[in-house]
Amino acid sequence: MDIKRVAVVGGGTMGNGIVTVFAINGYDVTLVETQQEFLERAIKNITSSLERMVKKETISEEVKSAALKNISTRIGVENVDPNTDLVVEAVYEDKGVKTSIFNKLDGLLKAESILASNTSSISITELAPKNRADKFIGMHFMNPVPVMKLVELIRGYSTSDDTYNAIKETTLKLNKVPVEVQDYPGFIANRILMPMINEAIYALMEGVATKEDIDSVMKLGMAHPMGPLTLADFIGLDVCLAIMTVIFDGYNDSKYRPCPLLKKMVAAGKLGRKSGEGFYRYE
Ligand code: 3HC
Repeated sequence: MDIKRVAVVGGGTMGNGIVTVFAINGYDVTLVETQQEFLERAIKNITSSLERMVKKETISEEVKSAALKNISTRIGVENVDPNTDLVVEAVYEDKGVKTSIFNKLDGLLKAESILASNTSSISITELAPKNRADKFIGMHFMNPVPVMKLVELIRGYSTSDDTYNAIKETTLKLNKVPVEVQDYPGFIANRILMPMINEAIYALMEGVATKEDIDSVMKLGMAHPMGPLTLADFIGLDVCLAIMTVIFDGYNDSKYRPCPLLKKMVAAGKLGRKSGEGFYRYE
């Protein structure tokens, strides 16, 4: 299937990034939110992301203007155009909310349309609407989406080869690198990344080193662009805890137990950049 018309549900950080890469690469993309106010904020953030890319000379001023023209907006999933070829869901990690969105979309979209979820850890097999499970797939982008090259393509139990191939081709057209992953807890990216972050938090809790030194070890010793505690703040500690919990529950293995310090910080509302404080403080 040749994917031309795309919709993205959710105007948060990930949704905005996904809209941006589709728009830059010439797709007609509709951003869907629940309120006009959220759409306005999203378009403002998408515009500043594009401006940042022009300043860094990764795109030209012309590409930026064309990308903005490729974006339209819509309030409510029930108002998505039934002729949309691909809908990518990027709302917060709540299984009930995501399932309700997919069921609504399943009822209104043409039979060939593909549904994708950007979930970071919820099972693709469990999220798939019953009647469209063959046309359902995980499309897991990395933050910040316009910069990171990887997209994990997660095959649910019933995802068809046609669906996988269409999404793989689309991912390549976005100038991203697709990686095929089976539907197991944490997929690959988060199954490896989150235990590393969790272990860094254990090291901090046990007083093995300061937060700055733990980050320096991984930045300077392993050439990671960000230390694990800085990265945890960047991702959001609540997101890290939610993913760790899915992996822990999914494998029922104590090696994945979330660190008590991570739990305590989430309970205290210290969520990282988005709350102004996590392991570090932010303006
Ligand atoms: N659009 C939006 N945000 C952008 C952006 C763009 N085009 N380019 C960069 N950013 C963001 C960052 O959020 C940060 O925001 P701020 O300026 O508002 O504080 C800022 O850019 C930092 O950008 P700089 O230009 O100063 O820094 P660099 O360009 O040198 O690198 C980086 C920034 C690419 C984020 C780099 O530090 C990096 O690669 N870090 C690791 C990122 C990573 O590991 N991502 C994966 C996270 S895991 C994930 O997403 C899975 C999920 O399921 C949890």
